[in-house]
Amino acid sequence: MTATDIEQQINQLRRQINDYNYRYYVLDAPSILDAEYDRLFMQLQQLEQAHPESITPDSPTQRVGAQPSTAFQSVTHTVPMLSLNNAFSETEVLAFGKRIRDRLHDTDDLAFVCEPKLDGLAVSITYRQGQFYQAATRGDGMNGEDVTANVKTIEAIPLQLRTQDFPTVLEVRGEVFMPKAGFIKLNEQAEQAGEKIFANPRNAAAGSLRQLDPNITAHRPLNFYAYAVGQVQGYCLPDTHHAILQQLQQWGFPVCSENRVAINEMACLAFHAEILAKRASLPYEVDGVVYKVDALALQQQLGFVSRAPRWALAHKFPAQEEITTVNSVEFQVGRTGALTPVARLKPVVVGGVTVSNATLHNMNEIARKDIRVGDQVIVRRAGDVIPEVVAVLKERRPAHTQAIVLPRQCPVCGSDVLHLPAEAVARCVGGLACSAQLKQRIKHFAARRAMDIEGLGDKLVDQLVDRQLLHSIADVYQLPLTALMQLERMGEKSATNLLTALEHSKSTTLARFLFALGIREVGETTAQVLAQHFSDLTTLSQADEEALQQIDDVGPVVATQVVGFFHEPHNQAVIEQLLKYGVHWPQPAPMDQSAQPLAEQRFVLTGTLEGMSREQAKAALIALGAKVSGSVSSQTNFVVAGRDPGSKLIKAQALGVRVLTEHQLNDLLAQLAMDD
Ligand code: IVH
Repeated sequence: MTATDIEQQINQLRRQINDYNYRYYVLDAPSILDAEYDRLFMQLQQLEQAHPESITPDSPTQRVGAQPSTAFQSVTHTVPMLSLNNAFSETEVLAFGKRIRDRLHDTDDLAFVCEPKLDGLAVSITYRQGQFYQAATRGDGMNGEDVTANVKTIEAIPLQLRTQDFPTVLEVRGEVFMPKAGFIKLNEQAEQAGEKIFANPRNAAAGSLRQLDPNITAHRPLNFYAYAVGQVQGYCLPDTHHAILQQLQQWGFPVCSENRVAINEMACLAFHAEILAKRASLPYEVDGVVYKVDALALQQQLGFVSRAPRWALAHKFPAQEEITTVNSVEFQVGRTGALTPVARLKPVVVGGVTVSNATLHNMNEIARKDIRVGDQVIVRRAGDVIPEVVAVLKERRPAHTQAIVLPRQCPVCGSDVLHLPAEAVARCVGGLACSAQLKQRIKHFAARRAMDIEGLGDKLVDQLVDRQLLHSIADVYQLPLTALMQLERMGEKSATNLLTALEHSKSTTLARFLFALGIREVGETTAQVLAQHFSDLTTLSQADEEALQQIDDVGPVVATQVVGFFHEPHNQAVIEQLLKYGVHWPQPAPMDQSAQPLAEQRFVLTGTLEGMSREQAKAALIALGAKVSGSVSSQTNFVVAGRDPGSKLIKAQALGVRVLTEHQLNDLLAQLAMDD
């Protein structure tokens, strides 16, 4: 090959790789397989190694490789990097609109660009003659830190502008952030390696960008959305913000696809509501939305006050994290005797809800986060999950804090507490002699997904156990009407209703019954698998560990628990009583293998389905042989994502699991029904 041939080949490879990145990050439409990309990349690397004189700083291979430095140099921003004024309510947004209209002497329709407020960190990236030149953090707005080598490793950011027509100097501003999926994966890897865990994606992004060694940054899953320009020389930009964003996209920068033009304040508020509703299912963290007056001429007329523009506003979402104090720690006893440490907090409003308790998970977590009574901590409340303590503010630790110690005796029944070194949780050994365990077992037995006993709620169970009317789950079917009527807030009518509901619940399914028994490690799905595999309870209760492990999905841990449960004389007696009191289920028809087209396929359902309940979808899938589980792992084949899907979808994306919409699920079910 001649030198020209080599140069041509190198240029072509670079173009292909840049095109791939553009499609992937900017157009969100990857065009080739990852393996193909890796092949092109290696080919380019080899060619460049053989011909080092051909290496240019904008080659995709040159993103990594810079030497670690000892400190970041300071960079002065030619155009200061401003901050935004914040609003937390509709009233404040309307006042912002009014201030603008008063200044502009205008009451006509006003166009805003609405953008999600990305929760990462702001950077400024300068291009000279279309080439990546320098990147800096915001710093104090006037001076930032030179993070050129680190930002260069972010594949979403072009090293060279895409079109031929560009400014001689272009400063692009935007947010570097870590997508939720990448954050989860990074923390999982860090946990396995015993390394530092990041509290949230923003800290992870900031920590990754402020690495003195760019080779570390290169391995962090960072992404970028452009949202503004700084200095521009030698080019006439369009006269609206939305057109500038379009132009940035053409130059090769990813721009958030949720951005939208809204006419007047009410449309801005609708955007806020829409993004808030979508918040959990967006693949990145947002902490609000930003409204920007679209016309640059109007922006100029409005100008700035102190260090924030009058023409823009950040409309924040209620915070999901707050700082408060750990007043004390109590241990709650669960159904299986597990002791869960719960922090009693100085009440604090988090995302609009007062939080006074947060789970500390287990003693290992307390040790890992080094939490002590008296500490100031960050509490997080996300969606419906139980609030948790994310981290301790060590620098604010007062002089007298107390260590959290696992009690030696169960706080409810006084039995010994056993903490096996191999297990994360400690347990009360009291079994059903522990009223806390008994209460939880009965609540579980009565739950909707178990025996579905309407009216047997938590408060009632507490009363019945405290008054010694219930000593086992079977006792619920022996409750006398007269005793019920003597309970607080229980008249004859509700007592009779409860008895009717109890009677009703006796007609159930084997799967529900198994789940209701509360066998450790046997959740709803395992109960379904067991019920499907064993035609009757007797065979199941006599199965040994080997037989159980023959079933797909049943490992040694589940098998040991199931065998142990059915060998326990007390459990045998309770089951016998339940059957004697009339609990029954239909005998399932023998299984036909040909009707199991989804055998071996593992599904996870998330979000709200429109046309059917999740239970219905689950039943339909299980009937076709599929396994339906509650959490996504690398074993999962499909995730069905309904409306507002939440973290399971993100985990699926992180693991590369196939995602089906409800529509696609329906198609699949219809197709299989036809094949049948
Ligand atoms: S515009 C003059 N747009 O919010 C306006 N900022 O409080 C400059 N941010 O430091 C910022 N998403 O890190 C703008 N779509 C967005 C944004 C955004 C997140 C951050 C940015 C900035 C901070 C201002």
